[in-house]
Amino acid sequence: MAINYYDRIAAGYDNRFYPATAQHKVIDRALRIINATKMGRGQNILELGCGTGIYTRIFSAFTTNIIAVDGSQKMLEIAKTRVKGNVIFKQADINTLLLEPVFDCIVGVYILQYVDVKSVLFRVSKMLKPGGSAAFIEPNALNPIVKWWEYKNQVSHALPRWEYVRIMKEMGFKNAKSSTFGFDMKGNITWPERIPIIKELAGSVLITID
Ligand SMILES: C[S@@+](CC[C@H](N)C(=O)[O-])C[C@H]1O[C@@H](n2cnc3c(N)ncnc32)[C@H](O)[C@@H]1O
Repeated sequence: MAINYYDRIAAGYDNRFYPATAQHKVIDRALRIINATKMGRGQNILELGCGTGIYTRIFSAFTTNIIAVDGSQKMLEIAKTRVKGNVIFKQADINTLLLEPVFDCIVGVYILQYVDVKSVLFRVSKMLKPGGSAAFIEPNALNPIVKWWEYKNQVSHALPRWEYVRIMKEMGFKNAKSSTFGFDMKGNITWPERIPIIKELAGSVLITID
């Protein structure tokens, strides 16, 4: 199960996935989510699968109230040392999480690949305020490196971008969209994103609801 996997690797997670050389990619991903949701001061934000708080820290600079949820106690312990102030960290299984509908934005990075997407997006639809927005960044199921990682670790299952959109529309979100981005490890090569068929193989998918 994914939560046990992340409890096991928590201590080495940041160095393994977010070395100093990858920090600009963290900022790029966070800004994609912030721009897509129009996250801002005074809003209530729910972050699903916050892990060690890498993105939570950036979101907390843009808004006043964040609840950040993760199933792994060990990941949350690290997040709590990283992010202070306006964030409430909560340990919960996102598959069964249902909070009051008080959220202006619900966001997540690399989390839907571990959960029952249909059930979680249904819960997202119930937890958003009317007119609220949501954005998720997920691995792209069509990218060969993503497929290899899934095969090797056997804990995740990414979907193609249109499948996320289909499920979101099924959950009642009329304005669900998706796009792909990110090709090389440093995130500097952007030209393939402009070529129609090639861009479908990018490493990441941005999924948005408003
Ligand atoms: C790839 S990490 C992403 C963490 C963070 N968003 C980031 O990008 O660094 C996936 C996270 O999802 C959490 N997770 C996986 N399945 C979960 C579930 N069912 N409920 C809550 N958290 C879960 C794991 O504990 C882990 O922290």
